Order: sequence, then C-alpha cells, then structure tokens
Amino acid sequence: MCGIFGIVTNEENLNIGNNVFEGIKRLEYRGYDSCGIVYIANKKLFVKKDSGKIDEIHKKLKLNEFPNGSKLALAHTRWATHGPPTKINSHPQLDCNNKIAVVHNGILENFFELKEELISKGHVFKSETDTEIIPHLIEENLNTHGNLKEAVVSAIKKCKGAFALAICHADYPDTIIVVRRESPLVLGIAKNTTYCASDIPAFLKYTRKCYILDDDELAILRPNSVEFFNIMSEKRIENKKLMTIDWNIGAAEKEGYDHFMLKEIYEEPMALRRTMKIPTESLKEFSESLINAEHIYITAAGTSFYASLAGKFIVTKFLGKYIEAIECSEFKTQLDNCLEDNSVIIAVSQSGETIDLIEPIRWAKKYNPSVKILSITNIVGSTLTRHSDQVLITQAGPEIGVAATKTYVSQVLTLALVALEIAKLRKKLSNEEIQKYYEALQSVPDIIENFLEKNVDLIKYIVKNLEKNLNFFFLARGASIATAKEGGLKLKEVACRFIEGYSAAHAKHGPISLVREGYPIIFIAPPDETYERLVGNVMEFKARGGKIISLVVESDVKITNLSDITIRIPQPEDKYHSLFSSITFIPALQLLAYYAALEHNLDPDKPLNLAKTVTVH
Ligand code: M6R
Repeated sequence: MCGIFGIVTNEENLNIGNNVFEGIKRLEYRGYDSCGIVYIANKKLFVKKDSGKIDEIHKKLKLNEFPNGSKLALAHTRWATHGPPTKINSHPQLDCNNKIAVVHNGILENFFELKEELISKGHVFKSETDTEIIPHLIEENLNTHGNLKEAVVSAIKKCKGAFALAICHADYPDTIIVVRRESPLVLGIAKNTTYCASDIPAFLKYTRKCYILDDDELAILRPNSVEFFNIMSEKRIENKKLMTIDWNIGAAEKEGYDHFMLKEIYEEPMALRRTMKIPTESLKEFSESLINAEHIYITAAGTSFYASLAGKFIVTKFLGKYIEAIECSEFKTQLDNCLEDNSVIIAVSQSGETIDLIEPIRWAKKYNPSVKILSITNIVGSTLTRHSDQVLITQAGPEIGVAATKTYVSQVLTLALVALEIAKLRKKLSNEEIQKYYEALQSVPDIIENFLEKNVDLIKYIVKNLEKNLNFFFLARGASIATAKEGGLKLKEVACRFIEGYSAAHAKHGPISLVREGYPIIFIAPPDETYERLVGNVMEFKARGGKIISLVVESDVKITNLSDITIRIPQPEDKYHSLFSSITFIPALQLLAYYAALEHNLDPDKPLNLAKTVTVH
C-alpha cells in the first residue's frame, strides 16, 4: 500500500519531471487517495501535493514541472492509514525547517510516543500522519550528528513497525537515502541515474538492472553509485547482488487496451504458457516435500486464497493426503499450540509482500523451526521468497490491475503442475494416464484464447441483462466453488456489486430463500464428478423462478436445457480437461466483472478503497 518513487541523476538531457511523473503513475495501483512530489534545487525543497488521483492533481499542479537545475525528485501515491486523505496528510512530509523530505510506505507503530517526545523538544507537527515523525527525528539527530546518514540511522533505530522510506535533504541535492523494514523497496541502476521504487515496473522503462533491498538495510543513492549498510550493525554491505529483470516495459503498459485489467485477462494464455515452463527440478523438490510431509496447510489472502482452494483440490487428487486451507489472517490464531513437526505450509501470493501472509509465515518458522515453507509467488526476491525453504515463481509478468486476474490462473496452473509431478513420483497412475492429464493441461492456454476471441459480445449482453440486479449468486460444487468465490470477489471489487460465490449444495440451507421470479443465479458447471448433482441444484432454483445462467462446456446438453443463457467454454468433455476447469472457466467471470464495472461507470483498475499490495495489518 502506497507507492514511492525516487530519482537522482546527473544526465544532462534527462527530463526529471516527466520521469518522476511517469514513475509515480506506474505505482498508482498501490493507492490513490493522494499524491505528492518534491524536487530539490538551489538548496531548497519544492513540494507539490494534494488529495485525489494523480491525474486530477496533475491538472492543478503540473506535477512534472520542476525548478531549474533539479537533479533529484521523490514522489508518493498514498493509501491513507493515519489521517484522512487531505493535502496536509499527503507525502512528502517535512521537518520544521523545510529541509528534509520523507516519503513512506508502511506504518510506524510507536509514533504516538515519538511524537510526544519530539513535541516536548519543540518540534511542530502539521499532519496527522505517522510518517511526519521521521523528518523531525532526523532533524533532531542532525543537531548532534552532523552527518545525514548517521542521523537517519539513529532515527530508524527508534522506530518500530513496517516501512520503506525515501529521504532527501535540501543541502544534499545529489543524495537519496532509502531504508527498508518489511515494506518492499527496489533500486534501479541506469547510466548516470539511480532510481528507488516500491516495485520494479515503475522504472522498467529506464533500466532492467536492479537491487532488492532486504529488511533493515539502508542505501545511499547517488547518480553513479549506491552504498549499502545494515541499519542495526551499521556495517557496510559488500557484494550486494545486482539482478537483471527479464520483464519488458510493454508488460507494464496498457498497450492499446483501455484498462490493465482487460489487458491482463487477455495476457492469460501467455502467462500460462510461460508458467508451464517452471523447471522440473523445482517442481520435483516441491512435490517431494509434500509427499514426505505429515501435515500440510495452504494459506493466502483474497484471490490467492481462492487460487489455493482451486489448486489444493487438484493436488489432493494425486497426493492422497488432506491439505488444510486457512486464510492467512487466521493462520496463527488457528494453529497456535498445534503446529507440529513434519508440517509443510504452502504460501501463495502474487506480490510476495502481503503482510497478513508474511506475519504468520514468520511466526510459524519461529514457533516450530522444523516447519517447511513452500511458496508460490510472481515476484522474484519478494519478502515471501526470503522466508521460504522452496519457491516456485509464476511467470505471469507484472500485474498492474488491482484486481488479480492473470496471476490467479498462473497460481492454479502452478499447483496443477505440482499435482502432476506428484502423480509421476507416486506412480499410482499409468504413464499413459499421466500423459493425458499433461496434454489436457497444455491445451488450457488455447482453450482460454479461443474463449476470449469469441465471447465478449455474449458477456456484454449478460452484463446488460443483469444490470438491474444488485446482487445474485455464483453457485458451484467441488473445485468450482473456488471459481464461484473468485468470480464473486471480482464483481465485488471492480463492479461494487454484492455477488456471493457459494456452494450449490449448501445454498438450499439458507440463501435459496432470496430466490424470486427472475432472480439470477449463475451456475459453474464443468462436466466433472459433481455435474449430476449440480443438475439437481439447478432444478431446485429453476423450480422457484430463478433465471439460470450457466457456464458449461461446448458439448453440454442437460444443464443447457435448463438454462436461460449459457456461456460455453470450448473444452472437450473428458475427465482430463475437467480437472483443470478452475483455470478455463474463470476468464468468463473476470470479463463479466470487467464489463459490469464499465456498465456502472467505474474504473476497474482503481477499485474504491483497495490497493494492489496490502502491506498493513
Ligand atoms: O499479493 P497477494 O496475492 O498476496 O494479494 C492477496 C490479496 O490482497 C489480493 O488477491 C486481493 O484480494 C486482490 N485485490 C484480488 O483481486
């Protein structure tokens, strides 16, 4: 939550204003309550900030116009925590003398105590933010230390909580200091220019070379150098690894699409083909850990949790062991006192930074060091990977839309690959059977491509048809309950509709009482082992006047005959393909959510109150 971006350069021809403006725009999906930029020129800070979305503020303040001679800028896009989204609470936050500027992602837990201490020493606070503590602490320390780096270090040593900070001082126009604890921060290295950002797509247009900051590291950024230090020991860190990112800039641009969400849905076939190439060695190691474990848990938040529900269903088919799925925010509460030896936790996260996931993972390792953490994430070097024993990286490329789409299908596919590896290792199926499952899995990207090519008009028609229905159900059985829940989440997020994903079997224990003549129910009905029973559920709802919309395979007859409208997924009707229906059926519901958002004049890339990566508790 919150995005930070910084640049320090000595490149003659670089337009620092355009560069910092573009950089912070690319981070807007992390929060869009307010935004601000600070430039340094002639030993003075020049701040532009306000509440609202970046484009609105830019219209008023021309964020990219910078004072002559400026070679340094810091920018921030905010998801408000401490204090409402007002101009005064926007970042950067400054010290009393307007010399020090700070942008921050995270939460300082002990800010009340620190604020009182600073006020007693004469500091005057203007905002309600926790962030404002930092410039005042540095200002205070500079009275005794004289050296900016040392003043920052002793300020940070007093702070508790999570933070990624970028700091500049008007008297040091060629220096940015950055610090990280728990919130993500990456550095981009280009010719004569150094960047810092909350994530890589922000500077991908300018460089693919980057450093990933670890917890409790501080870096001093200048146009041609970066120095790293450990905050606690204050020792210099030598040989920090410079990484080369293989994403291209197109991946972080809309490339002709109206929204990132739509573009990313259309990128699903590509994301899946790439993810299919996860090295067999890594899959084997991951699978062996599951085969050898006594207790297995899978945990995640939001969309990643639903991907976990779908994926665990496929894995258990071949593993022959139960996997307990627990939402990560409940993990510690439920497992306190009972996380036993020989347990494995599968942690799933697009960003690898979700604090509600990182916290229980850290707790689990501390509580029982024998527990193995196996993670699935889209981001190399993310916090989750650094707490994991084994990691599988999905190859979805950067996902900018706040609503997760292509990462969802990539996560389920990764778990499906693990499932088939387990089937190979356990030798419970013939090679021929396993081969058929592999072939079915390999056809998944084509099925989705084919579906997306032909069904947009139908989806738009259904959206129009449902326009007046503020709420309805997605119903399913078995693995497709995950699809129903994820479809419901997408509609809630981007179209502001309360759509519930629910078990079709359980719906008669309560929700069915909502059904009246014409009440819409969308059934997710792949031809798997639950199909015949689902037919019965469809009939129950039809008998009460429900309008039945169903997702079925092309050759479907029974549920089709009971439906008012069908969405037909072009996949063969066999058990091999059906096993992967949680991947092939979801794009229809993602598209439905996307067009429903447009129908209600909502921006699907910027859902109200949400941020892409949740780094606060
Ligand atoms: O980065 P993660 O996968 O850990 O994020 C988990 C959730 O915050 C995320 O899936 C959220 O639910 C999205 N807004 C879903 O579209």
